[in-house]
This record gives sequence, C-alpha cells and structure tokens, in this order.
Amino acid sequence: MAEQQPWASLAGIPEEYFLTPSSARVWDYWLGGKDNYPADRAAGDEFIRKYPEILTIARQSRKMLARVVRYLAGEAGIRQFLDIGTGLPTMQNTHEVAQAIAPESKIVYVDNDPLVLAHARALLTNTTDEGVTTYVHADVRDPELIIADARNVLNFREPLAVLLLGILGHAAATFEEMRSITAALVDALPTGGYLVIADGVDTGESAYLEAAAARGYHPRTLDEFRACFDGLELVEPGLVPRNRWRPVFAEAAEAREPMTSYVAVGRKP
Ligand SMILES: C[S@@+](CC[C@H](N)C(=O)[O-])C[C@H]1O[C@@H](n2cnc3c(N)ncnc32)[C@H](O)[C@@H]1O
Repeated sequence: MAEQQPWASLAGIPEEYFLTPSSARVWDYWLGGKDNYPADRAAGDEFIRKYPEILTIARQSRKMLARVVRYLAGEAGIRQFLDIGTGLPTMQNTHEVAQAIAPESKIVYVDNDPLVLAHARALLTNTTDEGVTTYVHADVRDPELIIADARNVLNFREPLAVLLLGILGHAAATFEEMRSITAALVDALPTGGYLVIADGVDTGESAYLEAAAARGYHPRTLDEFRACFDGLELVEPGLVPRNRWRPVFAEAAEAREPMTSYVAVGRKP
C-alpha cells in the first residue's frame, strides 16, 4: 500500500502548497513543531547552515512575545489585540497569554497561510467564557481590509495593540512598503493604542544577510525600523534585541545573544 502523504488529511489545501517552503511552516520547524514538511525542513536546514543562531532567535521570539503580551495585558491594561502574522499555533499563543491575565481580552489573529487557517479554526479559539478569539485570513499588505474585518470584533475607539511579529521582513520587500503598512495601522489606532514590531535587522552581519536573502526575507536597518514608530512613544527599553526587551532573570543570563533580531513597543500619545 502506498505510504499516506502527510497532506492527505488536510482536505482543501492543494498538494502543491506543501512542495515549496512557507514561512509559517519553516518557523514551526525551527520551533520544534510538527506542522512542517520536507520542503520546509530543507529550507530551514539551509538557513541553519548559514546562520545557526536562527534557532536561538526563534526560541527567544516566543518568550519575547509572551513578555510583551503580558506587559500589554498587565501594566498597560490592554484588552484588545490584533496579531497579524500569527504563525502556526504553538505554546503561549497571544490569546492564551492575554486571557490568562484578563479573561475578557479579545484577540483577532490574521495570517495568509492556508495551513495557519486550517489550524486556527481548530486551535485558536476562546479560552474563556468572557473572551473572544477570532481569525481573519488576509494579507498584511492590505491593512485597510484587515482593519475593516477586525472592526467586527474590536472597538478601535478603545485602546488596542497591533502586533507584527516576524512578518514584515517576509511581507514587505521595501522599506516604503513596510512604512505604508505600519502607517495605515497606526492611523487606525486610538490614543493609548500600541504598535509592536519584531523583525530581523541589517546590522551588517554577513552570514545573517546571506541566509535571509536566500529565503527572500528583507531585514531593515535600525533607522528604518525606528522610523515606523515616528509619532509614537517607545516603551522602555526602546528598540532592542528581542531577549533584551524586559527579560526575566533566566532569559537575561542566556549566553548566546544574536543581535540581528529586534523588537520595539510604541504607544500612540
Ligand atoms: C516567522 S512567522 C511569525 C509567527 C509569530 N508571529 C511569531 O512571532 O512567532 C511569520 C508569519 O507571518 C505570516 N505572513 C507572511 N507574510 C504574510 C502576509 N503577506 N500577510 C499575512 N501573513 C503573512 C506567515 O504565514 C507566518 O505565519
């Protein structure tokens, strides 16, 4: 009997989709997840050969996401989250972290990957009676459409946080595109709303730049990154490598510290 293909159970997704790597599935591979396929593992391994630190970055990214969401739901009192570039469900997803602090939190996830869509329907659901968790299948390059759809759940007159974690380097080929996406989202934010961006940066590290270029990923300079926060107040400690954004003790003590991946949290005054 022929071996069952891994995608056989995912009715509705064409087989060709699994034959080329996707950023969501390669990310899942680096995180040690199960939702990746031979093409993803080959692309992921190729990146690791050029820049092994990517595995540290992936792990640190999820910890950073949890710290940022904990800060927003806790200290900043945010109850509405628009998480664009959700990725495949893993541990400590945004709604789990936020709703553990404030069960009434509302989360709208957005991604354009068909497999994320399939899993989101099953896994990115309410964790509380009071909270709302929904999913929108859309491309970040159409921020107006995302905002219009998110308005069905989120009230844009009340403070909310927009998260763009690890997505813009994939989605925006130029700085102008990145700037126009973030400007549209910031425009829609009310006073007291937050923008969070985490992405790879061009700090001149050639191994990273080479690996990123081979994957079609576009790291930005720190100045370009900062420019997306024009008009916003950066929350302490500002624009920093991911593991330096309010680390807890054990994370701060990590020996290996790749400096190619930054995060910043900005508040609209
Ligand atoms: C590296 S993963 C990051 C996942 C998660 N935000 C995290 O930080 O762990 C990037 C995600 O962005 C999504 N993505 C890439 N380009 C996109 C686009 N143009 N529109 C919407 N989502 C996109 C991918 O499908 C993937 O799930």
